[in-house]
Amino acid sequence: MSFNPFPIKNHQLYIGEHTVSSLAQQFGTPLYIMDEALMRHQMRLFKQNFKHKFINTEVAYASKAFLNLAMCRMVDEEGLHLDVVSGGELYTAKQAKYPMDKIIFHGNHKTRDELQLALDYKVGLIVLDNPFEMDTIQHLHPIQPVPVLLRVNPGIEAHTHDYIATSRLDSKFGMSIFSDETLDLIEQLNQSEHFDFKGLHCHIGSQIFDGTSFVKEIQALLQYVKRVFDEKGIEIEILNLGGGFGVQYTAEDHAIDLEATLPQLLDTVYSETLRLNLQMPTIIIEPGRSIVANAGITAYTIGATKQTPSGKEYVFVDGSMADHIRTALYQAKYEAALVDRMNEMADHHYTLAGRACESGDILIHDCLLPKVEINDILCVFSTGAYHYSMSSNYNRLLKPAVIFVNEDAIRIVNKRETYEDLLTQDRL
Ligand code: LLP
Repeated sequence: MSFNPFPIKNHQLYIGEHTVSSLAQQFGTPLYIMDEALMRHQMRLFKQNFKHKFINTEVAYASKAFLNLAMCRMVDEEGLHLDVVSGGELYTAKQAKYPMDKIIFHGNHKTRDELQLALDYKVGLIVLDNPFEMDTIQHLHPIQPVPVLLRVNPGIEAHTHDYIATSRLDSKFGMSIFSDETLDLIEQLNQSEHFDFKGLHCHIGSQIFDGTSFVKEIQALLQYVKRVFDEKGIEIEILNLGGGFGVQYTAEDHAIDLEATLPQLLDTVYSETLRLNLQMPTIIIEPGRSIVANAGITAYTIGATKQTPSGKEYVFVDGSMADHIRTALYQAKYEAALVDRMNEMADHHYTLAGRACESGDILIHDCLLPKVEINDILCVFSTGAYHYSMSSNYNRLLKPAVIFVNEDAIRIVNKRETYEDLLTQDRL
């Protein structure tokens, strides 16, 4: 049985009050379908469980997982901060009238223009990655001191895929806590009239299942906070712990238990801060995937099958690695189902392939399904995070539409691309 958070009635898969096949029929395939109620539920779960009597806390949604205007509005309505990593994400938030003072602007190499935009918009916090960004901002002559955090790397190894681990010692992100240059930079930021130095940021990786990695991160960071205070006399007001909470993609995964882990993290902050005799910092976390991944599915139409001489059975769908890159890029595993035949035994082993001109364009390598029929609607589960946001126009394929379903309400939040859209930037 696949991992499926959605209801099944009369052998049909539902999102909210709609069958997936009726949505596919109405809006076409491939189609990203997101359950709005489930996204709001996850946001509330974070807000409710990331609270402590003696600690100020904030939850920021990491918008790189999935962002558009409607998402910005939802994040605002649910009272979360918003983490952005580019001028494009920042501009989207601004156009959605998301409050700029709740923006946290990240990135290991923000351009001068992006930093200027962030100053113009007066974003809440800029997370500096390195001294070059400090220089760039100084050269922009900010009118007021710019509130900043410094991203540091505590060298914590979290067990995750190589491409998404971010805190190894030779990672491109942040400044090592083992380097004296980092302490000097903190001192300079604290002294500079151009900056309002607030504290530190750290993100140890993504899709982390083991809560102890976060506990180690907190311990390492607070040790460092103590060192900053002891050696430089500088107090840290804000500690941003990043995101990375692991989610379930297949029946074999065990998502991190947020209700248990989040309070545990704050208890660790509390006891370590007291033990080290430090001022209690405000604590921020930045979940992305764990808010949207399970709320999304991608619906496809099965168009053809092919059996190779060795007996491998391909099922071809009308999407591809252009809307589903994570299998090719991270060897990520997914599960699928035939949305109108949820009662049937999934006892056939297929290779689910897309239509891009690339052998690696496989969505699921060993995909268990009932015997498929041409025109069956198939859905891939847990595609809410890093699918639409990582989609491309490879082969000049059109990006699918995105719809939000909330009980009986349906809205298109990203239109399906057209051939005309593809040419908007072309010039002869
Ligand atoms: N904060 C910072 C500074 C980050 O770099 C990230 C993710 C997050 C928060 C959110 O992490 P999450 O809660 O979503 O795990 N494209 C990859 C994931 C890259 C994540 C990069 N940073 C994937 O599809 O798995």
